[in-house]
Amino acid sequence: MTTRNTIILAAGKGTRMKSKLYKVLHQVCGRTMVDCVLTQVEKIHMDNIVTVVGFGAEDVKTQLGDRSQYALQEKQLGTGDAVKKTADILEDVDGSTMVVSGDTPLFTAETFDHLFTQHEESGAVATVLTSKAPNPFGYGRVVRDDKGNVNKIVEQKDASVAEQNIDEINTGVYVFDNHELFEALKKVKNDNAQGEYYLPDVIGIFKEEGKNIGAYQMKDFDESMGVNDRIALSKANQVMQQRINEYHMSNGVTMPNPNDTYIDFGVEIGQDTIVEPGVHISGHTKIGNDCKIGANSEIRDCIIHDNVTVTSSLLEESEMMEGSNIGPYSHLRPEAKIGENVHLGNFVEVKKAQIDEGTKVGHLTYVGNAHLGKNINVGCGVIFANYDGKNKHNTEVGDNSFIGSNANLIAPLHIDDHTFIAAGSTITDDVKQYDMAIARQRQTNKPGYFKKLPYAD
Ligand code: UD1
Ligand code: CA
Repeated sequence: MTTRNTIILAAGKGTRMKSKLYKVLHQVCGRTMVDCVLTQVEKIHMDNIVTVVGFGAEDVKTQLGDRSQYALQEKQLGTGDAVKKTADILEDVDGSTMVVSGDTPLFTAETFDHLFTQHEESGAVATVLTSKAPNPFGYGRVVRDDKGNVNKIVEQKDASVAEQNIDEINTGVYVFDNHELFEALKKVKNDNAQGEYYLPDVIGIFKEEGKNIGAYQMKDFDESMGVNDRIALSKANQVMQQRINEYHMSNGVTMPNPNDTYIDFGVEIGQDTIVEPGVHISGHTKIGNDCKIGANSEIRDCIIHDNVTVTSSLLEESEMMEGSNIGPYSHLRPEAKIGENVHLGNFVEVKKAQIDEGTKVGHLTYVGNAHLGKNINVGCGVIFANYDGKNKHNTEVGDNSFIGSNANLIAPLHIDDHTFIAAGSTITDDVKQYDMAIARQRQTNKPGYFKKLPYAD
């Protein structure tokens, strides 16, 4: 039986990234590069997927879990050596094996599938995926003969001046006849500028043995971009972001300036929602229909139902029900649950609190560890004092209550429904239904006192 297999090379440290983080774990639109590659590979049928790990092996394994098998390359002796490390799993397999790098996050499943199909139909021992680079510096160059057949691949550091002028590059993706691959790898040497065992050398070896080598030149260079440094990482993010944004726009989302709108992989957005410039939406976020996500808002791991308006605010791990709104300059911290048609205005912070239907919290308020019922009016500058220096306590406010401006509600506290808290009160005791609570100094007026002041005239 002939099989399809994939090897993902991810053992390198990525020195050129100048980072503590291993190269393939850097993210493109919220997903690690190696995960981007694996996600596309998974879209086509594979009998085996083996990821070669080395630097940061445990981190890469944690990231990908049981979606891949693993081979360990303890010393980074080159891409050819890395492939060899998969021999225990793959050497005896009949079929075709694709090799792809973990630092090329933009490839699509369609391209991989075309490459496999061309390879399988041509009967070549190897098919190289190439593209024409506007600036080929740093890539391996594809050297062809007069008839256009591939002769070999030379690395940047080993290329002659003439070879450096070639703009057709090795994308680092190939499909091989599996047995031929492992045979040729035994012949690869490391007598080159970097003293490494280069995988692309197997192409020259096949050529010398008179074997049939195929090439598939893809049109879109961007898709084949390899990320070796932070500059390339930013370009990869831009290309991926454009793809993601175009996907949402084609599904009915309005984006006045998609070049300045940042949406992670996997975010869902409904029809007729407007996402304004400077917005960042990340993690497992789901946004409904007819919402307006205003300029410079940041939303992470939230569920936003239909018809919600977010104005320049930061929302984290929270939920906003239909018709609710927030902002400008407000903050939902984890576990805020905002009910239908709730209004949260300027400078409001909500943490671990549920606010039920129709309640209004208009200005300058902190709500933490609380449950607010329906149709409550919370005045300006109210503080739910939830922390005694050691523990957090809860506050409960019943439906249709009125919390006057500048009230401090000292938890633990239970305020019944239909109650009135007078402005400026510091409330420490529970309040019963239909009661008014007032806790402030009585006002004293001193007649004529103004005239005694030094600046009085
Ligand atoms: C490689 C190719 C080059 C191609 C380019 C495309 C080689 C020698 N060169 O160059 O022809 O144009 O990709 O992007 O293959 N890795 C290991 N073990 C190692 C060395 C590398 O697993 O010992 C992994 C790295 O983690 C990386 C991938 O292999 O994911 C490619 O290695 P990298 O050093 O980035 O190769 P390039 O110089 O980009
Ligand atoms: Ca690379």
